[in-house]
Amino acid sequence: MFELNLDINDFLDTYWQKKPTVIKQGFIDFEDPIMPDEIAGLAMEEDLESRLVYQKEGQWQAESGPFTSFEKLENDGATLLVQAVDHWHPDAQELVRPFRFLPNWRIDDLMISYSTPKGGVGPHIDNYDVFIIQGVGKRHWRVGDKTALAQFAAHGALKHCAPFDAIIDVELEAGDILYIPCGYPHEGYAVETSINYSVGFRAPDQNDLLSSFTDYCIDTNESPERYSDREMLLREKPGKIETQELNELHRVMLANCATPEMLMPWFGRMISEAKHDLDIAEPEQPHAPQSILEQLEEGAQFIRLGGLRAVYFEQTPELLFINGEQFDCEGFTQLGHHLCDQDEVGSELYDLLIEDKNALNLFTHLVNLGYWYAV
Ligand code: SIN
Ligand code: CO
Repeated sequence: MFELNLDINDFLDTYWQKKPTVIKQGFIDFEDPIMPDEIAGLAMEEDLESRLVYQKEGQWQAESGPFTSFEKLENDGATLLVQAVDHWHPDAQELVRPFRFLPNWRIDDLMISYSTPKGGVGPHIDNYDVFIIQGVGKRHWRVGDKTALAQFAAHGALKHCAPFDAIIDVELEAGDILYIPCGYPHEGYAVETSINYSVGFRAPDQNDLLSSFTDYCIDTNESPERYSDREMLLREKPGKIETQELNELHRVMLANCATPEMLMPWFGRMISEAKHDLDIAEPEQPHAPQSILEQLEEGAQFIRLGGLRAVYFEQTPELLFINGEQFDCEGFTQLGHHLCDQDEVGSELYDLLIEDKNALNLFTHLVNLGYWYAV
């Protein structure tokens, strides 16, 4: 269990999305939840996204996994990065929990890096907020101010930014946390062989949102409204697009997102979809509802699958969005919301499920999909 040693209100007021900061000993007596050989093991898997970054004769190199060998990591100056480890490693997943003071829909994934001395990915700017937790070893970090800096490809798969002056220059030790809002240039180099854990937060930009929303419209809108102009009047200037014509085009374009509520079916699905593969293991034999109750009676805890995203909207509390799908919890919103709000559920479910067949059926279905599993 990781406990954040942080005044959360002060952090949100002063730093969240506003400026980078070092949270010295954010985790007291920090112990790494994963061993270097396990990180290497995950980087050998097809299902995970991994990268190896190092320099050769002064040139940056970046290779993509899966890897079969790690000789580069025997040398100084190399970093192995593995994405979405929280989806595959339950102990590492625990590191995401302390950050649930931020909403589920903003949390992206847990990326882990293993670096040999001098290892780092070079100066760069991320388009997400990140908490970088120092595990074993020490790493020297520099963070610059949010200014327009030139960005370029240091290698086909490695975007760097121009050199910057540091507003934070620090050596992190185990349990220290560096918070970097999106857009601030940074670079970190291992002083000693080092593990870093990056809890990332996604914030889609206009282009991400519009392209996803239009894809959704194309997939779901079978009778899209067409621009029409039955009131056409004789005009003198055929070259001109008139104001009311542009207004009507604008209205037709926005008709499917004219109110915030209209975004919900799309946004709920889109934001609850995992960007990286999940380690879904459906039970060999589907559970019967009764067996779920029995397991709860026997003290089972049900854990939400690592990386599974579950959300609901304030305006439509009876709809749940889980892993890109919409589920109905009308009449048992308390259960539905509890599943979204908690990483782990247990005996407190019993009373909610025994009283409501629909609630029990939905939870059984979610367990049978492999989304929650008993321990
Ligand atoms: C790393 O851990 O090497 C990279 C983390 C980052 O800069 O975002
Ligand atoms: Co970064």
